[in-house]
Amino acid sequence: MDIQEYQKEFLTYLESKEWVQEPKNLYEPIDYILQLGGKRIRPILTLMAADIFSDEYKKALPAALAIEVFHNFTLIHDDIMDAAPLRRGKATVHEKWDINRGILSGDAMLILAYKYFENYEPIVFQKLAKLFSKTALEVCDGQQLDVDFETRKDVTIDEYMNMIRLKTSVLVAAALKMGAIVAETNDKNADLIYDFGLNLGLAFQLQDDYLDTFGDAETFGKQIGGDIMENKKTFLYLKTLEVADKETKKKLKYFYRKKLKENTLKIIEVTRIFQINDIPILVTKEIENYTEKAFSTLSKMDISEENKQNLKAFGLWLMKRTV
Ligand code: IPE
Ligand code: IPE
Ligand code: MG
Ligand code: MG
Ligand code: MG
Repeated sequence: MDIQEYQKEFLTYLESKEWVQEPKNLYEPIDYILQLGGKRIRPILTLMAADIFSDEYKKALPAALAIEVFHNFTLIHDDIMDAAPLRRGKATVHEKWDINRGILSGDAMLILAYKYFENYEPIVFQKLAKLFSKTALEVCDGQQLDVDFETRKDVTIDEYMNMIRLKTSVLVAAALKMGAIVAETNDKNADLIYDFGLNLGLAFQLQDDYLDTFGDAETFGKQIGGDIMENKKTFLYLKTLEVADKETKKKLKYFYRKKLKENTLKIIEVTRIFQINDIPILVTKEIENYTEKAFSTLSKMDISEENKQNLKAFGLWLMKRTV
């Protein structure tokens, strides 16, 4: 099956649920964010993995929904933390309503996500819940580090890689492993597909950071320059500090010393600094490295050549994205 088919199957399942209940003020934002779209990469990965390791991939639909609901919860809270006005081309939840609605609707989504595991028998249920709890806590660890780094001046690229592993990669990896768990394959397969997801997730977050500065506002759906405004210590910033001359480094650090009310000049200047220092080329290389690393775990896996090609195609599709 191709990626679109899994996506369609997932959307039909998502739309079969009644999202809005009483009290409406709690459930409306949930319905809003879930209907806003998005690429649905995590549920697609869960379904793909289940399809690779079993002949009943539809059994993985509740697990796929759990991970997408969880992901959307993290986005609502992330947008509050990052003061982001736009998500998927529309107002973020806290902009459309207010911060309190964002906090509580997000909390409810986290609980809802766990409830979908009730569709599974005890052994699978326990494995899913265990992986999910570990992953969710790691995402919190990563999100806290991301915020801590905004005001730290000595962040290293290694620390950054660890932070994005926690905030982003582990969820991509868990999405795949959940499909493997539902399919009840062996631990070796489940662990290898998790490793594939970890490296793919790193490439994916590097790409997200690249698009945050160099993406097209129309397709990306988020505010361009948001990471610069928030002084995020992304690969773009950290790599510049590694390769730029002394004057440029000083200028870049000066721009990141505090948050500003008016950001037009800061965004233009910082983007220019990234550009003259060949950061787009360097980040693209890094994205390719991690994608290749992900592909190399595929060769260790005991699955058909066709399935390997499908996973590879997914990775390549992900790296070509502008959304
Ligand atoms: C956004 O995730 C948050 C990151 C981890 C970069 P996606 O890029 O998967 O967001 P949607 O769901 O497609 O909108
Ligand atoms: C998000 O990282 C990671 C999580 C949501 C856990 P970002 O803050 O870069 O994600 P976007 O760019 O807002 O989607
Ligand atoms: Mg954000
Ligand atoms: Mg963030
Ligand atoms: Mg981002």
